Amino acid sequence: MVTTLFYRSIWLLPIAYMLVAAQQQDRTEYVDVFHGTEGGGNMFPGVVAAPFAMVKLGPDVSSGQAEAYSGYLSQGTITGFSMMHESGTGGAPKYGVVSQLPVAGEIENPLNDLSASRASPDEGSVGYYKSSLMNGVTAELAGTEHTGAFLYTFSEGPSSVLVDVSHVLPSYRGMGWNQGYAGGNMTIFDDGHYEGSGTYNNGWNKAPNWTIHFCGQFDTAPTSGRTFIGSETTLESYGEVSSVSGSKRLGAVFTFEATEVMSRVGVSFISSDRACEYIDRESPADKSFTSLIDDAVSRWNTEVFGKVTTAETGVDNLRHLYSSLYGMHLLPSNRTGENPLWTSSEPYYDDFYTLWDTHRCATPLQHILQPRTYEEQIRSLIDTWRNEGWMPDGRSSNYNGRTQGGSHADTVLADAYVKGVRGGINWEDGFDAMLADAENEPPNTDDPSARDSSVQQGRGALPDWNERGFITLKYTRSVSRAVEYAGNDFGLFQVANGLGRTQEANKYLARSRNWRNHWDENATSLGFSGFLVPRNNDASGSFVEQDPLSCGACYWVEPYYQGLPWQYTLNPVHDAATLIEWSGGKETFLRRLDTFFKPGRYPERPKANNTIFDPTNQPSLGAPYLYSFAGRQDLTVKQTRQIANAYYSPGRAGIPGNSDAGAMQSYILWMMIGLYPVVGQTTFLIVSPWFESITIDLGGGKALEVTASGGGDRKTRDFYVQSLKVNGGEWKQVWVTWDDVFRDGGRLDFELGPEPTVWWDESLEVPSPASHGEPRWFRRPTVEKMEDGLSA
Ligand SMILES: *[C@@H]1O[C@H](CO)[C@@H](O)[C@H](O)[C@H]1NC(C)=O
Ligand SMILES: *[C@@H]1O[C@H](CO)[C@@H](O)[C@H](O)[C@H]1NC(C)=O
Ligand SMILES: *[C@@H]1O[C@H](CO)[C@@H](O)[C@H](O)[C@H]1NC(C)=O
Ligand SMILES: *[C@@H]1O[C@H](CO)[C@@H](O)[C@H](O)[C@H]1NC(C)=O
Ligand SMILES: *[C@@H]1O[C@H](CO)[C@@H](O)[C@H](O)[C@H]1NC(C)=O
Repeated sequence: MVTTLFYRSIWLLPIAYMLVAAQQQDRTEYVDVFHGTEGGGNMFPGVVAAPFAMVKLGPDVSSGQAEAYSGYLSQGTITGFSMMHESGTGGAPKYGVVSQLPVAGEIENPLNDLSASRASPDEGSVGYYKSSLMNGVTAELAGTEHTGAFLYTFSEGPSSVLVDVSHVLPSYRGMGWNQGYAGGNMTIFDDGHYEGSGTYNNGWNKAPNWTIHFCGQFDTAPTSGRTFIGSETTLESYGEVSSVSGSKRLGAVFTFEATEVMSRVGVSFISSDRACEYIDRESPADKSFTSLIDDAVSRWNTEVFGKVTTAETGVDNLRHLYSSLYGMHLLPSNRTGENPLWTSSEPYYDDFYTLWDTHRCATPLQHILQPRTYEEQIRSLIDTWRNEGWMPDGRSSNYNGRTQGGSHADTVLADAYVKGVRGGINWEDGFDAMLADAENEPPNTDDPSARDSSVQQGRGALPDWNERGFITLKYTRSVSRAVEYAGNDFGLFQVANGLGRTQEANKYLARSRNWRNHWDENATSLGFSGFLVPRNNDASGSFVEQDPLSCGACYWVEPYYQGLPWQYTLNPVHDAATLIEWSGGKETFLRRLDTFFKPGRYPERPKANNTIFDPTNQPSLGAPYLYSFAGRQDLTVKQTRQIANAYYSPGRAGIPGNSDAGAMQSYILWMMIGLYPVVGQTTFLIVSPWFESITIDLGGGKALEVTASGGGDRKTRDFYVQSLKVNGGEWKQVWVTWDDVFRDGGRLDFELGPEPTVWWDESLEVPSPASHGEPRWFRRPTVEKMEDGLSA
């Protein structure tokens, strides 16, 4: 203890100086805004002028029936440049609203398809985006938190800018998740500026009508500004009036003689006055286009990139590091002051898309890198419960939806609570919000994708879960929901325990073990027995015979959502010791993991060499870390390196599946740092850092420093831990806790090498808090098997 304190006091001071210097360096040259825009990553490459900014300004691209989830596609025609987007999501495209489209020449009928091909691939950097179109027009974009700046260069006059209020990102999936345009209005004022609003609905979260207001102006006076309104492509009015409104397609066309035209547009969920104020405040006429870019670069450097410094000099690694950091700071959106639904002094965040994806790695990393935003997000989640009765799992356009499995806000809150996050959070309310998830059945949304219960919020399958302790086939996604509800209930245990609410703590700890009720010791696959299986809705809840390598369509109505029984069986990490024991003990469990990662086991996954492990989706991502729970930290290191090398890169296709609001980037960033957060607990598993050094500014003069010596080629060969010092002292556990290295800062000094060694004390097992105090073998009543349960 004394040694540690002394050690800390000598290194803290230089770090404080170093951190200030670090923030001032420009690291945006290492950021590729196109990272993960291809190959399924669905990243948004456009302008986001500050971390979590409301405005995400970029191109909307049309290419046949391809879903443009973030608006961007590398191939196709540009239908507009719009102010709001998501990033990295799947499901269905959302937003793509408040658009402009520059057009060469006059526009005869603004309702026609005026989309333009690109003359060359788009370019972009932090705070800047550029598209060069075949019609000779160049569009450059910049912005602020609530405004966008459009700089157009035309090859000759006259030229036009189309503002089409009916413009949204379409969806072609045929799931009923396409966005609708419900109507709007637009007025051109005498001074040439315009104001209006558009109302839209639906999308993946099935939102009812929501309205965005806008205010636009041009730095160059147009020669004419004409409103239009009509149906489909038939014009009813074009230029006759200064104001149009209604549920028909409408907007305006501005015509210019000048060849360079700049437009500034503000958006607000509150009013068009507010949208105009944003222009005055954030992007006044004397603020140049380049200074907008400079401001964005400066904010990203100070608020994000400057917080992570490294001795690494390899350009690929630096690009991977800083592009990943960028990509995890786009969602959710900070909409504080922009909540049209209720008045509150609490912060307001939207675009949680979704906590199902982000609760493992992204929110724990936000906690460390952006403690202020993180606390604000949690307050916002709780305030949403306060005003709407439920915290979201997914939320966009100010509407909760959709919930794929559990209610992961519970786990996010628990993670914050156990790591000592207090600040402005009312934790009694926080726990009540969690109780709502755990006790109140949300009204059935009767959604065509799954009619059994709510897909909007809360836990739809709660009656079974709470009354029977398992979820029968009465409910869709029964097994994956059960596993996730168990993890969420563990979150309730954690907070109740901390608040001294002992009875509730005991209750939810017991419930967190109910994933075990889906365990069929006789379910076998590839020589292993014991898997999570569905249960019939009969008196005994009999087990369903289930091939652990199959989940049918694996979507909304099947018992396993987007994942195989093999994968979900590896998910109850809060009770890992039981999972390992029931799987036949450590040796057998290690073989099970090896099989999980072995090529050629699952015939339909060519991208992953047919492994059962699915690198593209969340239900698999915790699996490599289970090696550490079974006493083989070296295999965690080996497996995570293989995953990183095989599926992740700094390139455009460098994210193996949907980024999911930065979930994937956070997954790889934790690997780079050399730790893995076990969500809902204070445990961080020790892995193996990628770089000779990496320092994370934790705020308040505190830092986490990680160094690695002895490794020659840390990427492909010399990645095994030989020894570790934590805060200067020899370390023999394969994990550290929050208090060890984050609460007051800390350091991890690794020695790496080419051969695995048992550097840890084998008697020290990774915490498995839901397993303690339990009989090792939990006996269930004998149940009967039914063969055709799955086809019901
Ligand atoms: C949605 O908005 C449109 C346009 O304002 C309106 O006509 C329609 O009634 C609204 N729908 C609902 C369900 O409120
Ligand atoms: C335009 O629509 C918005 C939202 O419904 C409304 O607040 C505003 O008053 C309307 N403006 C005009 C000029 O109709
Ligand atoms: C979120 O937005 C509000 C309003 O713009 C701002 O006051 C607050 O500082 C923002 N939060 C963070 C963490 O930047
Ligand atoms: C597994 O099979 C054995 C032998 O048939 C049987 O005794 C046992 O009850 C079965 N267990 C379950 C949970 O079905
Ligand atoms: C597939 O297997 C081959 C041979 O073992 C290996 O070289 C390659 O990296 C693997 N690819 C992936 C994506 O795992």
